Amino acid sequence: IGREIRFYPTVDSTNLEAKRLAQQGAPDGLIVVAEEQGKGRGRLERSFFSPAGKGIWFSVILRPDFLPQEAPKCTLLSAVAVAQAAEDFGMKVGIKWPNDVLADGRKLVGILTEMSAEMERIHYVIIGTGINVNIAEEDFPEDLRDKATSLSQLKGEEIPRVAFFRAVLEHMDALYDSILREGFAEVFSMWRRYSITLGQMVRVIDARGGKDAFTGRAVDIDEDGALLVDTAEGRRRVLAGDVSIRPQ
Ligand code: BTN
Repeated sequence: IGREIRFYPTVDSTNLEAKRLAQQGAPDGLIVVAEEQGKGRGRLERSFFSPAGKGIWFSVILRPDFLPQEAPKCTLLSAVAVAQAAEDFGMKVGIKWPNDVLADGRKLVGILTEMSAEMERIHYVIIGTGINVNIAEEDFPEDLRDKATSLSQLKGEEIPRVAFFRAVLEHMDALYDSILREGFAEVFSMWRRYSITLGQMVRVIDARGGKDAFTGRAVDIDEDGALLVDTAEGRRRVLAGDVSIRPQ
């Protein structure tokens, strides 16, 4: 990962640019990083706040040789890599299932994974990661202020972006290597280590609607990365995607 890095002062979205490059045959591990995104994209068609010079907005193209159903688990790789990098820099962050990285209950990192595949073959997986690095509280738009935070707010000082990015890429590279060699065991065990979801009572809700909500204790993730929730009616298995969970 990161053998080739394409840097853009400004781009619509690093995920969109990575997709264009992937369609032109860009190799496994290529990184697209931008100083600023004009149209940063979030999950569920939301936009993602990505101001110039204050964050790390990047996407990685992966071309793993496994089945398409395995691809969503790759998302965990990025959350874990950022959590490890934060630890290297003396900060403690937590991962909320499946892949939000939080500090003080507020979001530090957003991850958007997109894939192109046929029945049995992955063309490419794009993991887009947005890390809020040096964003002061008052720099966030008002509607994000109580929901989002940044590394500099957490540490109380400016964080060197390039050094932090390098640490993230090194961890991603090591984790991706372990996935290709031995599967997801290492990523899962690291994920568990940083998880702030396991052991908690959670409410699982349909992120678009609100129907079918239920409450239970999050006990583990299984080999698909699904969250296992013990409810009064028994164990439920929750797949990432259109659900969101709230602490209860
Ligand atoms: C979310 O939390 O909803 C996901 C946000 C993902 C944001 C990153 S920033 C780099 C990459 N490019 C995008 O347009 N989105 C992702």
